[in-house]
Amino acid sequence: MTDTVHTPASGPTGATEPLVLPPGFVWGTATASYQIEGAVADGGRGPSIWDTFARTPGAVVNGDTGDVADDHYHRYREDVELLSELGATHYRFSLAWPRLQPDGTGELLPAGVDFYQRLVDALLEKGIEPWITLYHWDLPQALQDLGGWPHRDTADRFADYAARAFGKLGDRVRIWTTLNEPWCSAFLGYGSGQHAPGLTDPAAAARAVHHLLLGHGRAVRAMRAAAPAGGDHRFGITLNLYDVSPARADEPADRAAATRIDGLMNRIFLDPVLRGSYPTDVLDHLRERVADPADWIRDGDTAEIAQPVDALGINCYARHVVRAVDEPEPQGPSPWLGCEDIEFVTTGRPQTMMGWEIDPEGIYDVIARVHREYGGGTGRELPLYVTENGAAFDDPDTAGPDGAVHDPERIAYLDGYVRAALRARAEGADLRGYFVWSLMDNFEWALGYTRRFGIVHVDYATQRRTVKDSGHWFAGVARRSRDQG
Ligand code: NOJ
Repeated sequence: MTDTVHTPASGPTGATEPLVLPPGFVWGTATASYQIEGAVADGGRGPSIWDTFARTPGAVVNGDTGDVADDHYHRYREDVELLSELGATHYRFSLAWPRLQPDGTGELLPAGVDFYQRLVDALLEKGIEPWITLYHWDLPQALQDLGGWPHRDTADRFADYAARAFGKLGDRVRIWTTLNEPWCSAFLGYGSGQHAPGLTDPAAAARAVHHLLLGHGRAVRAMRAAAPAGGDHRFGITLNLYDVSPARADEPADRAAATRIDGLMNRIFLDPVLRGSYPTDVLDHLRERVADPADWIRDGDTAEIAQPVDALGINCYARHVVRAVDEPEPQGPSPWLGCEDIEFVTTGRPQTMMGWEIDPEGIYDVIARVHREYGGGTGRELPLYVTENGAAFDDPDTAGPDGAVHDPERIAYLDGYVRAALRARAEGADLRGYFVWSLMDNFEWALGYTRRFGIVHVDYATQRRTVKDSGHWFAGVARRSRDQG
């Protein structure tokens, strides 16, 4: 595929020409239920692990919770209107599992179904295509009480929930992704304890990976079986994939460290989903340093996980650079199971407020690699989408006296990353779309409301929404692309 016309080399700081998207390119924004909805008790919604975790002293900065968040549950019409003004072609959002199954089992709650049907209908009325994520981290607490993701039964519960949700919304929603960033669910939730449910048990984290993936495979199978022939439904998964490189390229120990981190970050998910097996080096690593995967992987599981997918979602914000440490210091709980002898280094580039280094080449490398090793480069058809990319910067709590929110750093970040992603496409990767994280400022997990990723500002005291300069930038790209497409 050649597409050089659409991919000038630099961002607004040194832009040679304004950004214009290839014809038909998906241009959307993304959110997640617990981060925006609020209304945690409305319509019979049950508690999720995030409701519980946010109430645990010390778990979330400032003791923030998602109780109100952006009050999107009550303001969804206004938010859909904003999406329309921004010129988004697609909107990626997640269903709150406990809003549909308060205990994680049985019939779906009518109020929950009604809410999502109204949201979807409002999007469709505006010509915006809905893109559903079934699981963006809000596991029903009742299922955690039975063992959560380390427990095999949760995979079945998830597939059942997916099939029922598809039954209610599949008539109007074409694109379905199962999991968002299972790396976080497993390793931050059960390994480092930074995310709900806040456990620090390496073996449980490794088991969680497998059951999340099994849940993905079974959910895809169940939904595909329920999809009408000729309905053009698409099923996939979203992974957070980061390029991993050695700090000293000529140092074998650093290169080995990079291979191990790449295994635990990327290949542990990519290989079973797209190749039908776990990488041998990752299984060896777990067996030697964590627990024996034979204890939880059963015959036939990897075949179930490797259901054909129609789309791979890539979330990418940064890259990892690692080095081997000769004499590791004792560490606290870490998401990097059995990697006490590896440290992450920074390279001196400017950082976002998350402490993530800004380097658009990172997204280029990830897309090009996935294409080369798992997608078109291997002869298979695998449409790729950047399902999240974005940045937190130091935006004010309220809009300025001129009624605006000026965020030039975010515009530069987004512009640079989109151009880098499009360069991977121009060089052959089957990249079909890009979603900004996020439509609007929201609850940033353990960091509460202290990090703002939105291209729409939310004043939490008043729930007033203000389109930031980056939102105007997004709308400008949409407009230009439509006009020139
Ligand atoms: C990834 C997650 O999917 C999303 O929920 C989160 O807010 C962003 N990254 C930013 O950290």
